[in-house]
Amino acid sequence: MAMLSSLSLISFTSFALLLFLVHAQDQSGFISIDCGIPNDSSYNDETTGIKYVSDSAFVDSGTSKSIAAEFQSSGFDKHLLNVRSFPEGKRNCYDVRTPRGKGFKYLIRTRFMYGNYDDLGAAPEFDLYLGVNFWDSVKLDDATSIVNKEMITIPVSDTVQVCVVDKNSGTPFLSVLEIRLLLNTTYETSSDALMLVRRSDFGGNGNLSFRYKDDIYDRIWTPRTLADTNKLNTSLTIDQGFHNGYQPPSTVMSTAETPQNESHYMTLIFRPVDPNAKFYVYLHFAEVEELKTNLTREFHIWLDESLLVRSFKPRYLFTDTVSTPNPVGGIMVNFSLQQPGKTGDSVLPPIINALEIYQVNEFLQIPTDSQDVDAMMKIKAKYRVKKNWQGDPCVPVGYSWEGLDCTQTDNTTNSRIVSLNISFSELRGEIDPAFSNLTSIEKLDLSGNDLTGEIPDFLGNLPNLTELNVEGNKLTGIIPAKLLERSNNGSLSLRFGRNPDLCLSASCQNTKKKKKKKNGYIIPLVSLIVGIIIALFTVLALFRHFKKKQQRGGLGGRNGPLEIAKRYFKYSEVVNITNNFERVLGKGGFGKVYHGVINGEQVAVKVLSQESAQGYKEFRAEVDILMRVHHTNLTSLVGYCNEGNHVALIYEYMANENLGDFLAGKRSFILSWEERLKISLDAAQGLEYLHCNCKPPIVHRDVKPANILLNEKLQAKIADFGLSRSFSVEGNVQVSTVVAGTIGYLDPEYYSTRQIDEKSDVYSLGVVLLEVITGQPAIASFKTEKRHISDQVSLMLAKGDIKGIVDQRLKERYDTGSAWKMSEIALACTEPTSAQRPTMSQVVMELKQIVYGRVTNQENDNDSSILLTVDLNSEMVPQAR
Ligand SMILES: *[C@@H]1O[C@H](CO)[C@@H](O)[C@H](O)[C@H]1NC(C)=O
Ligand SMILES: *[C@@H]1O[C@H](CO)[C@@H](O)[C@H](O)[C@H]1NC(C)=O
Ligand SMILES: *[C@@H]1O[C@H](CO)[C@@H](O)[C@H](O)[C@H]1NC(C)=O
Ligand SMILES: *[C@@H]1O[C@H](CO)[C@@H](O)[C@H](O)[C@H]1NC(C)=O
Ligand SMILES: *[C@@H]1O[C@H](CO)[C@@H](O)[C@H](O)[C@H]1NC(C)=O
Ligand SMILES: *[C@@H]1O[C@H](CO)[C@@H](O)[C@H](O)[C@H]1NC(C)=O
Ligand SMILES: *[C@@H]1O[C@H](CO)[C@@H](O)[C@H](O)[C@H]1NC(C)=O
Ligand SMILES: *[C@@H]1O[C@H](CO)[C@@H](O)[C@H](O)[C@H]1NC(C)=O
Ligand SMILES: *[C@@H]1O[C@H](CO)[C@@H](O)[C@H](O)[C@H]1NC(C)=O
Ligand SMILES: *[C@@H]1O[C@H](CO)[C@@H](O)[C@H](O)[C@H]1NC(C)=O
Repeated sequence: MAMLSSLSLISFTSFALLLFLVHAQDQSGFISIDCGIPNDSSYNDETTGIKYVSDSAFVDSGTSKSIAAEFQSSGFDKHLLNVRSFPEGKRNCYDVRTPRGKGFKYLIRTRFMYGNYDDLGAAPEFDLYLGVNFWDSVKLDDATSIVNKEMITIPVSDTVQVCVVDKNSGTPFLSVLEIRLLLNTTYETSSDALMLVRRSDFGGNGNLSFRYKDDIYDRIWTPRTLADTNKLNTSLTIDQGFHNGYQPPSTVMSTAETPQNESHYMTLIFRPVDPNAKFYVYLHFAEVEELKTNLTREFHIWLDESLLVRSFKPRYLFTDTVSTPNPVGGIMVNFSLQQPGKTGDSVLPPIINALEIYQVNEFLQIPTDSQDVDAMMKIKAKYRVKKNWQGDPCVPVGYSWEGLDCTQTDNTTNSRIVSLNISFSELRGEIDPAFSNLTSIEKLDLSGNDLTGEIPDFLGNLPNLTELNVEGNKLTGIIPAKLLERSNNGSLSLRFGRNPDLCLSASCQNTKKKKKKKNGYIIPLVSLIVGIIIALFTVLALFRHFKKKQQRGGLGGRNGPLEIAKRYFKYSEVVNITNNFERVLGKGGFGKVYHGVINGEQVAVKVLSQESAQGYKEFRAEVDILMRVHHTNLTSLVGYCNEGNHVALIYEYMANENLGDFLAGKRSFILSWEERLKISLDAAQGLEYLHCNCKPPIVHRDVKPANILLNEKLQAKIADFGLSRSFSVEGNVQVSTVVAGTIGYLDPEYYSTRQIDEKSDVYSLGVVLLEVITGQPAIASFKTEKRHISDQVSLMLAKGDIKGIVDQRLKERYDTGSAWKMSEIALACTEPTSAQRPTMSQVVMELKQIVYGRVTNQENDNDSSILLTVDLNSEMVPQAR
């Protein structure tokens, strides 16, 4: 959706699919192969607890080797002590079934350490492929340099092939091969694959990298220190409930770095080796200091000249991830973390906790048709074919499997297998059903093997089959009628000689059966096949059922996390947070708002009551919009709960509740004139953001003092997006069937035409401004009749009675000039026809002039700050652990 403007950059993904967490934690989403250890052996790594298994089940070729004795006890990871070396063949491949098959996202990691295993003292250089596609070159500088290659991708088939290709520059080998199941919803890009460039942990004191069990996905985080920064840390756990889908480990997120000089801002520079390459960058933030109430940490995040996130506030003990929406590249990539404007001492300098950079890899080679591949894999496995059948059967052209002919690939279609010759290859057993899936096959030669059983009917259904040779086997039964028919009409060359028990017709079969007295064997065979088919269907049905369940949980059914979830809380957690709904903060049409505490921070928990007038749709709208928007003058959503009948929204806590209470005199003090001006500007800025910075624009539709919340510093934030709507850019006007909103604040034009646009919010804000100026409600009794505040103010203004307009409780403590100006703006906003009203941006400009006396441009106010540049390319030293 285009609506995900700059704010979609923040991924608050929160798939609380416990299933995945559990799996990742118990390693069932892991495949960990230590290449070269004895066949079928395994061990648990002492440091990580990861169970490594031998590679014998995943590879057909190569030899096991151990690194040289001198390096055996140098403290290297155990999985680096052995390697599988491939002295023969140009391409050698591992073939690994992924933990959950195709369509899921995996991190695939290979590690290499030469360790002089071959005693040649020459570290090799070779190429690495994922299936048919080039992954990267592996170049080892010396015996003990460790090379990691990592790729994140969604495989299109259930198995992945990791291949090493000889470049005549030493023998290819592999030390470790690891596969980790990731959440589909993280590292989302339109690219085929992401290759790790770096993954850094800032602010730590140690020099050890973190991986499993700190990281449930076993990503390896390398410690890094930036120049001229201070280190910050907390001993508390960050994001305990894993609300951020990326789930960087708490040990990584609990340390951060910040510029030493508080007036400096931070720039992270990355210079790609290849300026044509494209990269995705993920910045992970979490506040680790408990900030005093008069302090905030807030900064803009710039990517080169464009604003990535405005006024970003890292949350205390929660991880937020900011990523580049599109791939970046060039000679230099510049991320800048800058405080917004000259804000004095109350705004702390930026921080950064962790960062990841990935390079895009587009898969240009098109693999062989996946149905053909699956069939060949089954055939290879069933008959244990002793040929160098590795990697993709047809692609790249120079590497196609022995005995195979394929159609040529072009840019758009997959190669198909047209000819398969596995004659004289010691095949035993029946003709496998997998042959039926080689639907493009023209020539099939199975002669000279020990195949038994009947010739299956499906061979007669292969549409393009022109040659079939099954001579010299032990096949029985009768030849399928279809094959005979095609043979008779000349469209098929069929050879079936030297199968002693094979018949051309049923009568022959009967005599042969009698002669051999083997009456019984067909029945068990049939029941076996039926049994297998039933088992297959059961597995399939179970899998489907399982998938459905997941989809329901994951993709926004009425229960459970919504697709665009930021932070999902279980109902039991909500009970905990609110201390069993102990303190009521307020009450509305939707239900009650309770006080709550998360990790020591106060929150407001809005619980949707069963008989709520504000239904599920409004709840959805509110969550949808708050997910996307992020602005200091909009309330921010901390999380939500959507479990069975329990629906709750958790917001940041606003100490001073709402503007309406102040205006109605329900609070102990009255707002000063200056405070009123600032609150008006805040509200207008929040709405301007919705109108101008969101694509398509969002119209709030229910702007009123009760929906303008004030924090302890009386900063105003717009709340309650339940009625808000987004409007596509083309059709700026929307016709709505029901009138929604609040009487008194409702655009009169909307009331009659049912057409709504941003100007409707301008009208409502105008009414709010009038209330702020006068302290009177929107509709007040005037003598005997009820009169709208705009009529009243315009009457008095016409008489020049500014004293009569401004809230009497302020006495003389206000500036007449700005009171005039405010009243004029407010009345312009409440013009009955929308065309005569200003836009929200114009309102903001005018209000800024009143508040600051001049128009300021926050973003360009940074001249006095000194740049703190961090060069991400400077080398770091990975430490063995
Ligand atoms: C170990 O496995 C490899 C490859 O599967 C095989 O070539 C080798 O003969 C096996 N060795 C033993 C001792 O079983
Ligand atoms: C991930 O993708 C797979 C395959 O498309 C799908 O079955 C599964 O439900 C997805 N998981 C999530 C959490 O979306
Ligand atoms: C946290 O900071 C303190 C001092 O500020 C330091 O002594 C300690 O080593 C730090 N801990 C970590 C894990 O960096
Ligand atoms: C890493 O830390 C260990 C123990 O704290 C220390 O002995 C070693 O010198 C450090 N290595 C580097 C490169 O700083
Ligand atoms: C911080 O930087 C500013 C601007 O360069 C400089 O005036 C100030 O002295 C610096 N403060 C410290 C403590 O170094
Ligand atoms: C990086 O971007 C910031 C903000 O756009 C700019 O001030 C700074 O000069 C840039 N740094 C470099 C090295 O270009
Ligand atoms: C913040 O408040 C503390 C006391 O609560 C005070 O010592 C400090 O000076 C204040 N800082 C600012 C920037 O106002
Ligand atoms: C593949 O596409 C590219 C451009 O799209 C073209 O230059 C190239 O010739 C095509 N190759 C084949 C084999 O069709
Ligand atoms: C043939 O291919 C289909 C779809 O790819 C698959 O569902 C089926 O199990 C395959 N059949 C055999 C016998 O392998
Ligand atoms: C069979 O051959 C025809 C003609 O060569 C071709 O057009 C068709 O695509 C082939 N069918 C399959 C399933 O490959």
